[in-house]
Amino acid sequence: MIAEALLYAATAWRTQKAHRKYIRYSVNLWSRANRCSRQWAEHEENTRRAILAAMAGCKQRRTAVVLGSGLLRDVPIRELAASFDTVVLIDLVHVATVRMKMRRKAYRNVRLIERDLSGYDAIAAGEQPEPLGFLRNVPYLDLVVSANLLSQIGRGVQRRFEAERERMPEDTVEQLIKAHLSGLSRMPFKSCLVTDVSYAVIDRNGKTHEEADLMHGVAVPEARAAWAWPVVPIGEESADYQVIHQVIAAW
Ligand SMILES: C[S@@+](CC[C@H](N)C(=O)[O-])C[C@H]1O[C@@H](n2cnc3c(N)ncnc32)[C@H](O)[C@@H]1O
Repeated sequence: MIAEALLYAATAWRTQKAHRKYIRYSVNLWSRANRCSRQWAEHEENTRRAILAAMAGCKQRRTAVVLGSGLLRDVPIRELAASFDTVVLIDLVHVATVRMKMRRKAYRNVRLIERDLSGYDAIAAGEQPEPLGFLRNVPYLDLVVSANLLSQIGRGVQRRFEAERERMPEDTVEQLIKAHLSGLSRMPFKSCLVTDVSYAVIDRNGKTHEEADLMHGVAVPEARAAWAWPVVPIGEESADYQVIHQVIAAW
């Protein structure tokens, strides 16, 4: 708890006011990722491998953008920083440990941007959401990675949507998932999408008790790789149940 409190405090003063409410999610992710590092290792390695495969397909390596860079656990940041002229990391929050690491000499070409990538505010304002439209203005953009972000946009938006249901369109979450996917696919750069698409709550005997589609029925691109991610292993929240997410990677 002390480590979490220190990380929170060290992150808060560098985080814009509007995003401070999200710090606790990043600190919770940091805690859980540390506790579950053994069970998450394969997922993180698979994600890094997909990003490196996408990078290998880039004819030019001028600017790379990573959406949902978070703790950089599943992002091959060393290779990206060494290969591209500029790497831009975008997330709601960059925790203090990430900010500190990015001050090293090897990461002099890395920029950190805090930004809400959901597009929720556009829908709330009655506009067509284009959450990745800003990428058009990024010069010499050759690679965009969506790094285990999309399902989290869905979850975050779902919470806001439940609270403001009467003034938001019924299909808000679906619209935003579609907008993210079309933002990745309709622009002249190489993209790499890694996202969990569903989860299941499974007991010790392998029996499934609950399942959910994290993409809310929206079709995702054909996967070039897919794997299971034990987000909540047995013993993390319950002695009897685990939560396994299915992840896809497309590039
Ligand atoms: C599962 S984590 C991704 C892990 C990360 N790629 C890593 O290597 O540690 C999801 C990330 O998405 C970010 N996120 C969630 N909703 C977001 C939004 N609307 N805009 C920007 N980032 C968001 C979270 O802050 C978190 O860092």
